[in-house]
Amino acid sequence: MRVYDIILKKRNGEQLSREEIRRLILGYARDEIPDYQMAAWAMAVYFQGMSFQEVAWLTEAMVESGETVDLSSIAGIKVDKHSTGGVGDTTTLVLAPLVAAAGVPVAKMSGRGLGHTGGTLDKLESFPGFQVSLSKEKFVETVNKYKLAVIGQTARLAPADGKLYALRDVTATVDSIPLIASSIMSKKIAAGADALVLDVKVGNGAFMKDIGSAQLLAETMVDIGERMGRRTVAVLSAMDRPLGRAVGNALEVKEAIAVLRGGGPEDLRRLCLELGSRMLVLAGKSADLAAAWKLLEGLLASGQALEKLRQMVAAQGGDASLVDAPEKLPRARFRREVAAVAEGWVRRVDTAGIGNAALILGAGRAKKGDTIDLSVGLEVLAKPGDKVDRGQPLAIVHGNNEELVSQACAAVLQCYEIGAPGESPLPLVCGTAGRL
Ligand code: URA
Ligand code: CA
Repeated sequence: MRVYDIILKKRNGEQLSREEIRRLILGYARDEIPDYQMAAWAMAVYFQGMSFQEVAWLTEAMVESGETVDLSSIAGIKVDKHSTGGVGDTTTLVLAPLVAAAGVPVAKMSGRGLGHTGGTLDKLESFPGFQVSLSKEKFVETVNKYKLAVIGQTARLAPADGKLYALRDVTATVDSIPLIASSIMSKKIAAGADALVLDVKVGNGAFMKDIGSAQLLAETMVDIGERMGRRTVAVLSAMDRPLGRAVGNALEVKEAIAVLRGGGPEDLRRLCLELGSRMLVLAGKSADLAAAWKLLEGLLASGQALEKLRQMVAAQGGDASLVDAPEKLPRARFRREVAAVAEGWVRRVDTAGIGNAALILGAGRAKKGDTIDLSVGLEVLAKPGDKVDRGQPLAIVHGNNEELVSQACAAVLQCYEIGAPGESPLPLVCGTAGRL
């Protein structure tokens, strides 16, 4: 079986066999297949697509390329959650303690993230002393004791994906649904969860710009999960504006604490309840979504979810007193309002542009290994559909460098289209996939 023939077959729109896919992926992971052949294959996939069966085999081969985490020593059904990535997506910081407070074990591996803000790990490091690298034993022990731990994801999970992703990034083959779906699912399956809830973002701040392509990505990932024996469901959620108000690491931690206290922005709270209630049903904790929703609302109102965050921060070496004194979390020196230059309706927000403004301030990484400033970011006050007056603040920029604050303010202003009433924004939940 020559690699040439596998590329040719896919180029001509034929289906690959399980063995052909394995040969390609494992050969690439072992450095036996050169980048130029993999790049040609990825481009063939981009144009010809893959069947659901091929995508599942691709995922399986990527899992096989590395280690898998064995969570069997943690009691209970382990449900993981994944977001395809958006701007100001603070859900994990709320969901991990919330779901753990319901008694469902959360053994979470998170990334540092590239792009406008850090990943969940970076955000948690807003608590001084917080340790994201626990030994396997300590990780399992912490989850068994507190139902919750969040640690860094090692590069040893699905290494073929790491290598292929870097190649896709420089060959214009990132935005292929089969390649995205297998990339995400290989890492989730290698991380050992029994069941998965996926948050597929839709809109100008997401990979998927329209509901149709988001629905296809969601169905593809659900199909992979189910074929590989993991109960999987997906929620499609709006990313034609940032979620919540905060975009930036410590700012998002504060926002998550506000939700865990029973308040916070309504959209963030609601999406966390949508995702969390699905996690509870898949974990066998609640019989249906309505019961799960009620249970979670109770945990927010009673302070038990907030208590779980205190426990997690303390168990991982962080200063848990900041959970009750969020004003002591990292804070930027300067705050500047971005005012509307005209009266009217917010017709559109360039959500990716808002993310870029946070990146200008230093909230995220332009490339791997960059250092980030936990204190900086934005508060987004005006969203699509809102009526604003001239001079009304659209957003507040938090930064540590006046020149960068000015640049970020100018960038934010460019993100707002204000005028006559526009199209309705997307509903917060724009669809689902998989059955409960
Ligand atoms: N996230 C991933 O992990 N992989 C992709 O291909 C796209 C987004
Ligand atoms: Ca947010």
